[in-house]
Amino acid sequence: ADPVPLQDTCVADLSSGVTINGFVCKPSNNVTANDFFFDGLKNPGRIISPLGTAVTPAFVLNIPGLNTFGASQARVDFAPGGVNPPHTHPRASEIIYILEGELEVGFITTANVLITRTITLGETFIFPKGLVHFQINNGVKNAAMLVSFNSQLPGIQSIAFTLFTASPPVPDNVLAKAFQIGTKEVDIIKSRLASIA
Ligand code: GLV
Ligand code: MN
Repeated sequence: ADPVPLQDTCVADLSSGVTINGFVCKPSNNVTANDFFFDGLKNPGRIISPLGTAVTPAFVLNIPGLNTFGASQARVDFAPGGVNPPHTHPRASEIIYILEGELEVGFITTANVLITRTITLGETFIFPKGLVHFQINNGVKNAAMLVSFNSQLPGIQSIAFTLFTASPPVPDNVLAKAFQIGTKEVDIIKSRLASIA
C-alpha cells in the first residue's frame, strides 16, 4: 500500500514540474469537487486492441484527488475471447468485481502454482500484490469488471510487452535463452507485439 496521508487532501498538481514521491498538492483553496470525481468508468471502454480488451484507468492521473489516497480503480471491458494478458502491479494488490458476463481468472504464486477459477456477474476475486495474473472472457457475450487497487498508481507490467517491446530492446539472445527458442522466433514475437503495443 502507498504511504499514509499526512493531510485531509493533497490534490495532485499534475502540471507542477516538481518531482517528488507522488505529486505535489495544489493549494487547498483551489480544490473543488471535480478533483474527486470521474465519470469514465460509467460506460464500456472502446475495444480496439487485438487482445479484445479495453482498460479504462481511474488512477491519480485521472482523479487528481487520489494523490496520497492509497487506492484507485479501473474498468476492463472484454469482447468474447478477449484477454487481459498476464501482468503484474508492482505497487498494488487487486480486487475485481464482475459487472457483466463471466471471466476465467488466475494468478501464479511464487511457488509457481496457478490459482484459477471462473467468476460471474456480481462475484469478486482478489490478486495478491506483485503476482502475475490474467483474466479471459471465454464466453460468447461481452464481459466487464471493476478493478480496485491499494495504490493511487499501481503500475502495470504486461509480461509479454515488457519483455518483447521494451525500448531499447531486451537483447534477442537474452530472450532466446530464457524461453529456450531461437532468435528468429524472438524476432517474430517482437514484431507481432510491436504492431499492437
Ligand atoms: C487493469 O488495470 C488490471 O489490472 O486488470
Ligand atoms: Mn491486474
